[in-house]
Amino acid sequence: SKNIVVAIDGYSSCGKSTLAKALAKKLHFIYVDSGAMYRAVTLYFLRNKVDINNPEQVAEALKNIHLNFHSRDYQTHITLNDEEVSDEIRLMPVSQNVSPVSAIREVRKEMVAQQQRMGKSKNIVMDGRDIGTAVFPHAQVKLFMTADPHVRAQRRYKELQATNSDVTLEEIFENLAHRDYSDTTRKESPLMRAEDAIILDNTNITPEEQLAFALAKVEPFL
Ligand code: C5P
Repeated sequence: SKNIVVAIDGYSSCGKSTLAKALAKKLHFIYVDSGAMYRAVTLYFLRNKVDINNPEQVAEALKNIHLNFHSRDYQTHITLNDEEVSDEIRLMPVSQNVSPVSAIREVRKEMVAQQQRMGKSKNIVMDGRDIGTAVFPHAQVKLFMTADPHVRAQRRYKELQATNSDVTLEEIFENLAHRDYSDTTRKESPLMRAEDAIILDNTNITPEEQLAFALAKVEPFL
């Protein structure tokens, strides 16, 4: 029988990855954090001063970028040319530059191709912005997650504080608002709900409730 794909899309810091990880773990599916891929590409661009308005530089960079996941424990472990970058891609320099990088057509083409290969024959949960619309338009289950922007900023703030980051709540709020704006208004596969995606607003529901909700949607396909 065909492999099962669960696509989880939504705004920044809506708890997509928390739910995706829990779901993958429970079902013994592969978990892929597609945002981590765009973040790693952005880190490479920043380090190598790739001019995003120069198509040759972008193409050359994409040829030199090799990403790999090691998600054995259902956390995101990603390497960029064999270097572990899982922590660095969460920091502000990357967060502040990832949306323009991910809006580049050639970048998306390459990432989407890699993502589609990962979900070709395996049961998979993938989260991102265009998973249900562009990467896996035929996914059996599609969720579209939202939450109150202030609640989202607060959650991300707590997460980043744990890693001793000195970023402020206001900076995070601004960054989320800015990314949501860029991600929903860009030309190349903007963030939007697929027609057949189920909306999940998690402002007031616990991670356990979200997991139960998602499991119930996947169960008919198991
Ligand atoms: O999911 P995360 O917040 O880590 O994603 C970082 C950024 O990567 C998003 O703000 C968006 O610009 C981009 N992204 C994307 N398509 C995806 C996943 C992420 O454009 N499928």
